[in-house]
Amino acid sequence: MSATKKQDIKRITTHQLREMKNRGEKIAMLTAYDYSMAKIIDGAGIDIILVGDSASNVMAGHETTLPITLDQMIYHAASVVRAVKRALVVVDLPFGTYQGSSGEALRSAIRIMKESGAHAVKLEGGSEVKDSVERILSAGIPVMGHLGLTPQSIYKFGTYTVRAKEETEAAKLIEDARMLEKCGCFGLVLEKIPASLAKEVSQSISIPTIGIGAGPDADGQVLVMQDMLGITKEFKPRFLRRYADLHTVITDAVGKYIGDIKSREFPNDKEKY
Ligand code: KIV
Repeated sequence: MSATKKQDIKRITTHQLREMKNRGEKIAMLTAYDYSMAKIIDGAGIDIILVGDSASNVMAGHETTLPITLDQMIYHAASVVRAVKRALVVVDLPFGTYQGSSGEALRSAIRIMKESGAHAVKLEGGSEVKDSVERILSAGIPVMGHLGLTPQSIYKFGTYTVRAKEETEAAKLIEDARMLEKCGCFGLVLEKIPASLAKEVSQSISIPTIGIGAGPDADGQVLVMQDMLGITKEFKPRFLRRYADLHTVITDAVGKYIGDIKSREFPNDKEKY
């Protein structure tokens, strides 16, 4: 692609995402945590790249998303931003960086925006984090909400099962979604909730909803990249569709490489100086 063509690429904005919802065009979102993969998925045309705190699991090997730090999220986010020409880059505020006070939340969000060059932040929760959401928005930083299964609260829930099946929890989720819309969030992730509830929420708010395990009626879908590419093997929730089996592709390629070295087939005459 020529330099002029590269400059011609139009960035996805939060305003465009709202327009996509209005005209019924579904939004495609994926996670990424590094330069090389972000470059590939941006080139493939993904609308939103989420630098998720799932980096704690898939990049660092932790059992939960809780251990990842703000510095580590900024490192991942800056690597992604350097690769991206078109997608909107949203970064998770990690556990412990926004729940304490709205001032701390604002400082954390400002660090992400300044030090990584990302375009928006995401945080988990509803009424409990309203002050933080408002404070971040008041500084002109776009915020995406996250309701339903919120992995940073795993020790409160106890399991990763479907959320908001009961009427009271569903009613609170709808109330929280409306509150986040009213505050000015530009979008909302709905994780692992009944499809009927995701449909109701998506129809009752004007901002786009992005589902993960929330059925077909959210305004868009998100998956963790390592899961949809089949790099992770053990994680097999019902909602996950694998679009490739990179675990097998990589294992076979590395196996062949090892074999070629051991048998002295690599490098050959053409591969030497
Ligand atoms: O951290 C993450 O990857 C997420 C998505 C699963 C929505 O929050």
